Amino acid sequence: MTPRHKKPSAPAEGSSASSSMEEPYIEAWGHKFHHSGRIFVPFDEKEQERMELHHRLFRHCLNGALTATRIPLSVQNILDLGSGTGLWPLEMAARYPQANILGIDISRIQKTNVSPNVRFTIDNVENPWPTPANSIDFVHARGLAGGITDWPALFKQAYEKLKPGGLLEWTEMAIQIFDFDNNLGDIELCPKFLNLWRDLSKRNNIDFTPSPNGPLWLVEAGFENIAQRTEILPIGDWAQDEKLRTRQNLMNRVSAEHFENHCALLFTKCGWTREQFDAVAPTFFSEIQAESKKPYTMVVFTTARKPRLEED
Ligand SMILES: C[S@@+](CC[C@H](N)C(=O)[O-])C[C@H]1O[C@@H](n2cnc3c(N)ncnc32)[C@H](O)[C@@H]1O
Repeated sequence: MTPRHKKPSAPAEGSSASSSMEEPYIEAWGHKFHHSGRIFVPFDEKEQERMELHHRLFRHCLNGALTATRIPLSVQNILDLGSGTGLWPLEMAARYPQANILGIDISRIQKTNVSPNVRFTIDNVENPWPTPANSIDFVHARGLAGGITDWPALFKQAYEKLKPGGLLEWTEMAIQIFDFDNNLGDIELCPKFLNLWRDLSKRNNIDFTPSPNGPLWLVEAGFENIAQRTEILPIGDWAQDEKLRTRQNLMNRVSAEHFENHCALLFTKCGWTREQFDAVAPTFFSEIQAESKKPYTMVVFTTARKPRLEED
């Protein structure tokens, strides 16, 4: 079965989406994907809902902050790659009113009531960005996995566009599930389903869990001060303390209600029908819902700096 190419439909009243609805799109299992067929996350309302939950989850992991990076209040130029609905740039704009923030996304789903210091442009972030070399103070990328085929090239471009001493932050959630009680997380839960997922991703040249390779790519691009901060994200009903329970509630909503957002195009392009998928997907949930298990996944915040000039 191949994904269906669709003509546009009118945007729903009150929707934050605008002209992406005027462009053709690919439909798989009722989800709308970019017409190139190269972006494995949809852009429909269900996915926009998920982005907002993720935004809350990641802020919670950062104790309410918008970044893991310490950014000087005098920051001037900020670039956000894959802005989605634009929540992050809008909240950054309020925090850094003197900064110019440019968000790039392949789908036009950004909120339209933006602050004067935020702009959005619609493009693939794997294309050259509309910013001069050495002009950006902070490059931010979050949740791009599923839409990037060449991560090293993306980081090379970030290096080129950052000012000397400029900062990069890149955040991805791992598509891996571990048991909290089991040998410091080296035994994966749901291996059958997740291996199938990884196999299909590989066939499509897509890496949904790129963070482990991040430090190598960043060193190769020329970055320094590379660090990774990992936060655990419990799933199910086992977390005890209030902080982890909040993350767990958000994670349960993300995994149960939005599970198929990331599966629809991937499986469809590999010839899976909805019926075949429905026959294997429940094993995923039965494994993470087993009473003896304490499942969790992780979010990895990767930070790096372009070296300062010698005389700085
Ligand atoms: C999971 S959402 C994350 C949104 C936002 N960064 C956040 O963290 O809330 C991923 C976004 O990246 C965009 N995206 C993925 N691959 C892209 C690419 N190659 N070029 C431009 N945008 C891309 C998608 O359209 C989507 O809006």
